[in-house]
Amino acid sequence: MDMNSVNIEEIVKQVLSGMTGQAPAASAPAAGTSAGGAIPATAHVAMLTELEHYEIKEFPMPAVGDDDILVKVEGCGICGTDAHEFKRDPFSLIPVALGHEGTGEIVKMGKNVTKDSAGKPVKLGDKVVTCMIFADDPDITMYDLNKQNVGAADVYGLLPDDDVHLNGWLSDYILIRGGLGSTFFNVSDLDLTSRILIEPCAVLIHAVERAKTTGILRFNSRVAVQGCGPIGLICIAVLRTMGIENIVAVDGNEQRLAFAKRMGAETSVNFKDFKGIEALAGGVKDAFGGHLADFAFQCTGNPMAHSNIYKFIRNGGGLCELGFFINGGDATINPHFDICSKEITTVGSWVYTLRDYATTFDFIKRALGIGLPLKELVSDTYPLEQINEAHQKNLAMTGLKIAIINK
Ligand SMILES: NC(=O)c1ccc[n+]([C@@H]2O[C@H](COP(=O)([O-])OP(=O)(O)OC[C@H]3O[C@@H](n4cnc5c(N)ncnc54)[C@H](O)[C@@H]3O)[C@@H](O)[C@H]2O)c1
Ligand SMILES: [Zn+2]
Repeated sequence: MDMNSVNIEEIVKQVLSGMTGQAPAASAPAAGTSAGGAIPATAHVAMLTELEHYEIKEFPMPAVGDDDILVKVEGCGICGTDAHEFKRDPFSLIPVALGHEGTGEIVKMGKNVTKDSAGKPVKLGDKVVTCMIFADDPDITMYDLNKQNVGAADVYGLLPDDDVHLNGWLSDYILIRGGLGSTFFNVSDLDLTSRILIEPCAVLIHAVERAKTTGILRFNSRVAVQGCGPIGLICIAVLRTMGIENIVAVDGNEQRLAFAKRMGAETSVNFKDFKGIEALAGGVKDAFGGHLADFAFQCTGNPMAHSNIYKFIRNGGGLCELGFFINGGDATINPHFDICSKEITTVGSWVYTLRDYATTFDFIKRALGIGLPLKELVSDTYPLEQINEAHQKNLAMTGLKIAIINK
């Protein structure tokens, strides 16, 4: 490990040092035994066995090795990535236990497990989440993983099925294995809904960190956020929590725009009210009181929206494009008018680093502390048995964040 990563590790530890878990410390049973009553002989896993079809499979409870943690799952959010897997299996993982936005309680752990990935102590009864990023380097992102080919994706919820089977959070038990490069965090001081939102919130912590590298995003910046799905709405919440108040939300859905205002946007612009990009840019300018945006976040997966957003930004302004987690096709821009002559500084953002994950825990507490309705993002909940219905609801896009909550 080089000096740089040691420093980063220290920073992560410092960020988390204020988070003393409020889990039942006094009443926690001795290490290695069950926390919340007897552990059943079998576990249930929602296994995607074919396109658009999960089966609830029952497996024997696996042995818990010295470096492993058995977690009783409380809930798990359904993500856009799960939706892609459900519909098309682009990663050829079927049969696969999905679910990476999950959280639950440690009910059994091996004798070598004493600390989480940030160095915070863990004990039976603590509430944990896993992270998609490995421990090797806290500053690494998924982008680096692609580049460096760090081996098989040891990511819970995207692991191919194996003889353990308890590989995803869409289940009632999951086995976090020390042998994999897995990272996990003790987040006992966050409630269940907040814990389910950690993973998507980390995406926006990272995007805002990327935006800050431009030097353009400042305390009193005028910021346009285009797209008010969960990603855009959390973006607004992060900006607002940082103290940025001059936010204009752009979407075509009035309900989402109304929520964007509750999340911290000062004004909203419905793109359907405008004919043509010049008129829409005029609408955004009016919303800022006659100014274009200093900075814009592109939070839709629509190539046309990418083409449009440059017109909302002032000369010398900045753009963070984060709407294309997957390939959404090409977008047309005019390099002269859109980037060159305006001197726009653009950053892309993809997933997050381990450090962003730690920052996210603090963000959630602060956002709730200033009264933002972050938890209302979880719009619909289903029991595990209704996993297929939950996924169909997610595909229908009539809610915001769909989650499985175990009984
Ligand atoms: N960078 C990352 O790491 C990362 C992570 C997760 C998701 N994403 C991406 O973020 C995007 C948004 O995710 P989401 O869950 O909020 O999706 P979503 O589909 O729920 O929301 C997108 C919103 O954009 C709006 N929209 C569509 N076209 C528009 C246009 N031309 N102008 C303005 N608004 C428009 C829609 O009405 C919708 O409310 C997705 O495309 C996803 O791939 C990126
Ligand atoms: Zn996700």
